[in-house]
Amino acid sequence: MEDQKEIKVEQTITETPETPKTSKQKKPTKKQLVSELLAKSNSKVFIANWKMNNKFADIKAYFKKFNKLIGSDKTLKTMGNVLIGVAPTAIGLLPVVGMARKGILTVAQNVYHKENGSYTGCISYDQVHEYNINYAIVGHYETRTIFNLKEADVNEVVKSLVNNQMTPILCIGETAEEKDNGLTQKVLSKQLLNDLKDVSANQALNVIIAYEPIWAIGKSPATNDEIDKNIKMIREIIGSIYDSETAKNIHILYGGSVDENNAAEILTVRSVDGFLVGRAGLDPLAFYKIIKSSPEYIESEKILKSKNK
Ligand code: PGA
Repeated sequence: MEDQKEIKVEQTITETPETPKTSKQKKPTKKQLVSELLAKSNSKVFIANWKMNNKFADIKAYFKKFNKLIGSDKTLKTMGNVLIGVAPTAIGLLPVVGMARKGILTVAQNVYHKENGSYTGCISYDQVHEYNINYAIVGHYETRTIFNLKEADVNEVVKSLVNNQMTPILCIGETAEEKDNGLTQKVLSKQLLNDLKDVSANQALNVIIAYEPIWAIGKSPATNDEIDKNIKMIREIIGSIYDSETAKNIHILYGGSVDENNAAEILTVRSVDGFLVGRAGLDPLAFYKIIKSSPEYIESEKILKSKNK
């Protein structure tokens, strides 16, 4: 079985992808919107952001393990309300599409908002969409910094995605200095207002927000109190931009030094709907343990065990 999967993987990336012939054929299968896919209560989202890591052989080794872990997990099969994704570099997208087992989403780390044209060095939302990649991280702190993105640029990408039934994983967060100067609320409000400009309430429900305090990325996590306070603050801001229903139902993840040892503790914060994971997401076992640490998983596991007694 394992061998068959491996052969398929090689085929996926050595063959030229079929050229779409008509605009009708080109249309990717309709994606279910996050808001339809995940009922708000009891749902969790886990995305591993690989950043600029993993070459082809690493990707192969990763999915050999990760597919097995996810595929053999009976609890995950019964849960339903969980979304698992892996975000490789642009060059890793197609290998991941080919290798990841059903149920593991391929997520782009960054896309450009134009459909096509003279934009050297960019990949368009439409190009990833063609391969049924329907999720993209937008405005990660590192992306904003490296490419000098303004909030208006981030907003263009968010709009290009939601206008095409794709899901942005919109990263927002404050610097250590802003936090120390009591500016967190101001910064988060400004980011949300600008990043979500001209995005309707319905479309906003298809946006996953990742609250990533910049000072916690690659260092050590925020405390549960800080996470709870700031995610509630984000919901309030969303409520003031849209309405209380949107604020209640939008998915908000936490990101910043999550690992298999602190995930369960952070997930006791009820306002957290999941994680965007950096370093720990590079290890399939660690990422799997993070997924398993959600209260929903533990509850489902208990139910399954009692049924099997
Ligand atoms: P980290 O990265 O988990 O390594 O802190 C998180 C992120 O940048 O999304």
